[in-house]
Amino acid sequence: MAVRPLVQTNDPVLRQRAQRVTSFGVALQSLITDMVDTMQAQKGVGLAAPQIGVSQQVLVIQFSENEKDAERGDLYILCNPKIVRRRGEEPETEGCLSLPGFAGEVPRATMVTVKGQDAEGKPVHIKAHGFLARIFQHEIDHLYGKLYIDRVESAEKIWRVQPAGEGDEGEVELL
Ligand code: NI
Repeated sequence: MAVRPLVQTNDPVLRQRAQRVTSFGVALQSLITDMVDTMQAQKGVGLAAPQIGVSQQVLVIQFSENEKDAERGDLYILCNPKIVRRRGEEPETEGCLSLPGFAGEVPRATMVTVKGQDAEGKPVHIKAHGFLARIFQHEIDHLYGKLYIDRVESAEKIWRVQPAGEGDEGEVELL
């Protein structure tokens, strides 16, 4: 168990396409544990491996619609994820742990179906709606070297926010 440091905003690893996971052994289990620890320590609702400098297709998500229950939200662990179906589109505010101090309004699908593998390599199939669907899209983007700032309609749709812990928290979800 360990909290790993986040890479800086300009780290090239954030712009690379991550490698597919092919080995579901001890190293992967330890990476996943550290990713969950890091996401929770940073008060994020999702984290992709490149955000801690590991260029592998792994994401973790912990989210609850009920804000008070955020830390007991459902935990999703996914390797080699792929969006196989998307429906609808809606702009909504999101922040990113890799772009501290900013938030943006990002159009995303309102429903996605995601296929991938769990921590043991077994196939999984997840259907997500609303903000959870948004988190999956944001984290899967990270695995392809994309950031939310690539998806905003214009520069006016990005603005400054208080870094986490320094202002009124909970305003912007960090992904
Ligand atoms: Ni992010």
